[in-house]
Amino acid sequence: MDVSDLKGKTAVITGAARGLGLSFASALAQAKCNIAVLDIVDAAPEDLLRLGAQHEIRVEYYACDISSKSHAVSTITRVEQDFGRIDINVSAAGVVSDEPFVSTTEQNLERTMAINFNGSFFVAQACAASMIKRIESSQSKLPIDPVTNGGSIIFITSIATHIPSAAQNICAYIASKAAVKGLVKPLAVEMAPYGVRVNSISPGYMMTDMMRGLQERQPDLVRQFQKETLLGGGERIGDPENLLGPLVMICSSKAGGWVTGQDLLVDGGAGSWKHPVASEG
Ligand SMILES: NC(=O)c1ccc[n+]([C@@H]2O[C@H](COP(=O)([O-])OP(=O)(O)OC[C@H]3O[C@@H](n4cnc5c(N)ncnc54)[C@H](O)[C@@H]3O)[C@@H](O)[C@H]2O)c1
Repeated sequence: MDVSDLKGKTAVITGAARGLGLSFASALAQAKCNIAVLDIVDAAPEDLLRLGAQHEIRVEYYACDISSKSHAVSTITRVEQDFGRIDINVSAAGVVSDEPFVSTTEQNLERTMAINFNGSFFVAQACAASMIKRIESSQSKLPIDPVTNGGSIIFITSIATHIPSAAQNICAYIASKAAVKGLVKPLAVEMAPYGVRVNSISPGYMMTDMMRGLQERQPDLVRQFQKETLLGGGERIGDPENLLGPLVMICSSKAGGWVTGQDLLVDGGAGSWKHPVASEG
């Protein structure tokens, strides 16, 4: 697979202080793509900063609460000034809170929608505006060939938008991710003339810090997720590593230049069958 076009490009990744976002940053860094990370934590993690020297690329960290439109927009303006261009946006920042529907608090609903949906929207909107400006200044005639110019926007949604698990009560989270998925096709239509492709990846169950947090609060949860996952014989859930091939392919205009308007479910088969009943307790 040829992903050589990623060299020298700039990827804006949200939520890459840890978890899937950090793995995505590492995979794109290996392809020599420069990395701008937006995350709410104050200080950049060492693992992220190390990627710069390791792969001879530029890595910058921006502490940013993506749920604030003004904060997201001013941060993307800084990224544009620092890197000179934005080619890729991956929205991996997200939160989840387990609350049954009838007792879901207004606070959970508002926070979940504000970060997962509004935050992804604001950052993608600012990145798209920057991409359009870059493309229009380099080429006067539309449409743009997505393989030679353009860009790639990738939202991270969830297996739960395809098939919810009976082991969790996360309706606010699922609705927020379904709303994000709802952006993919209309944005693919609007951005097509600029050669900017818009897709989402729906991860299955992945062992990240978010999952470790859930595991602490609900010890049987990961066991249930293992049982629901076809590959691995019910013994494991996914590793962030398992998402990197599809992610890099969609980011690359050479490898994924004809893919737009799609949601790619990468779940070890968990969404493909009738799940075993969740165990009690
Ligand atoms: N881990 C899984 O099994 C799984 C499955 C399906 C979907 N997902 C989705 O993938 C994405 C990454 O998941 P993860 O497991 O790596 O989660 P994680 O909790 O490990 O990482 C999420 C990151 O988002 C950041 N963040 C939270 N609020 C923010 C805000 N307001 N502004 C900026 N950054 C903020 C956090 O600081 C953190 O670094 C999430 O959107 C999640 O919903 C995860």
